Amino acid sequence: MMMLTLLLPALLALRVHAVFEVQVPELPVVALYGTDTTLNCSFSPVTPFNLADLTVFWQLTDTKRIVHSFQDGQDQLVDQGDSFSNRTSLFHTMLSSGNASLLLRKVRIADEGSFTCFVRVKDYNSAALLVQVAAPYSRPEVTRDPDSNLRPGDEVSLSCVAYGGYPEAGVLWQDGRGRNLTDNVTTSMVANEEGLFSVRSVLRVAVEPNSTYSCRLFHPLLGEDSYASVTITAQNMAFPPVALWVTVGLAVCLLGLLIALAVVCHRKIKESEAAEAAGEGKELEEDESKTAMTPLKS
Ligand SMILES: *[C@@H]1O[C@H](CO)[C@@H](O)[C@H](O)[C@H]1NC(C)=O
Ligand SMILES: *[C@@H]1O[C@H](CO)[C@@H](O)[C@H](O)[C@H]1NC(C)=O
Ligand SMILES: *[C@@H]1O[C@H](CO)[C@@H](O)[C@H](O)[C@H]1NC(C)=O
Ligand SMILES: *[C@@H]1O[C@H](CO)[C@@H](O)[C@H](O)[C@H]1NC(C)=O
Ligand SMILES: *[C@@H]1O[C@H](CO)[C@@H](O)[C@H](O)[C@H]1NC(C)=O
Ligand SMILES: *[C@@H]1O[C@H](CO)[C@@H](O)[C@H](O)[C@H]1NC(C)=O
Repeated sequence: MMMLTLLLPALLALRVHAVFEVQVPELPVVALYGTDTTLNCSFSPVTPFNLADLTVFWQLTDTKRIVHSFQDGQDQLVDQGDSFSNRTSLFHTMLSSGNASLLLRKVRIADEGSFTCFVRVKDYNSAALLVQVAAPYSRPEVTRDPDSNLRPGDEVSLSCVAYGGYPEAGVLWQDGRGRNLTDNVTTSMVANEEGLFSVRSVLRVAVEPNSTYSCRLFHPLLGEDSYASVTITAQNMAFPPVALWVTVGLAVCLLGLLIALAVVCHRKIKESEAAEAAGEGKELEEDESKTAMTPLKS
């Protein structure tokens, strides 16, 4: 009880002290890569104040590196982090109305993270906001390997690539009926010097004629959904199945004909041999019959 009565004035004093508020967006600020973005920070000056009495500090929350500072009525940039030089400014005309927002130009991937806005007039306070950088991916493209001379049942690799995005994208393969394909898919992301990702996803499938495969790309921050698809038609096949069966059918017919012909010939040869063996006497009769038939031919 005694403790509480002692503490109460202190708590009340704290409450009075907390009147000076610094406000930043609660939700992460999504900044488009390469564009300029404003990091909002506003404070509530209790009374009109002299700009010379104002201090504004923007710094990286984790490393305490100075992003921008304003003191004694002007920008103080000697201690500014190298990566921010020439890329920051405050809205000087707005300072007196409690707007300490920071303009950050040409946003980079490395800018992602927590920024603290510190403001002092007589009292001081600070607040931190989170910056998330987003870069849209190029439209995905699908290629296949091998590209031609495919035979039904051959395994083909379909590659889907998209470039220059951030952060990592989600990739989904679907067949012509919209079913998700998750087996035999390998997806990799590679970052370039600027931190932008290239995504490459490879789907291995057994070739069927007339089948379509789509590669869908989802951007986690921009909510964009783009896709590319490839259709394997009979023309891509070295041996389309219809032509194959026709060929096989024709070949079987031809073989049958050849066999039949061979049998017939064999019989004819045997017959004529038998006839020769039967003697020369019959030859005359045959000659007569041939002569008898001649008038009919003419
Ligand atoms: C910054 O503040 C302005 C004015 O209050 C508001 O219109 C804008 O949406 C804010 N931007 C962000 C990223 O919160
Ligand atoms: C501060 O001023 C700038 C420039 O007018 C404006 O874009 C921004 O939205 C303002 N921020 C707030 C929190 O009012
Ligand atoms: C910043 O701008 C000044 C003047 O425009 C220029 O001399 C300097 O090289 C720039 N610094 C960087 C890091 O771009
Ligand atoms: C396919 O996967 C996506 C993303 O994981 C999901 O939203 C969708 O419901 C799935 N569709 C089917 C038919 O399973
Ligand atoms: C994945 O690949 C293996 C081996 O190539 C194959 O046996 C299997 O059927 C494939 N799975 C699907 C869903 O295509
Ligand atoms: C291929 O698909 C198209 C469209 O679905 C259809 O019109 C065509 O008959 C199909 N061809 C074969 C050989 O299945």
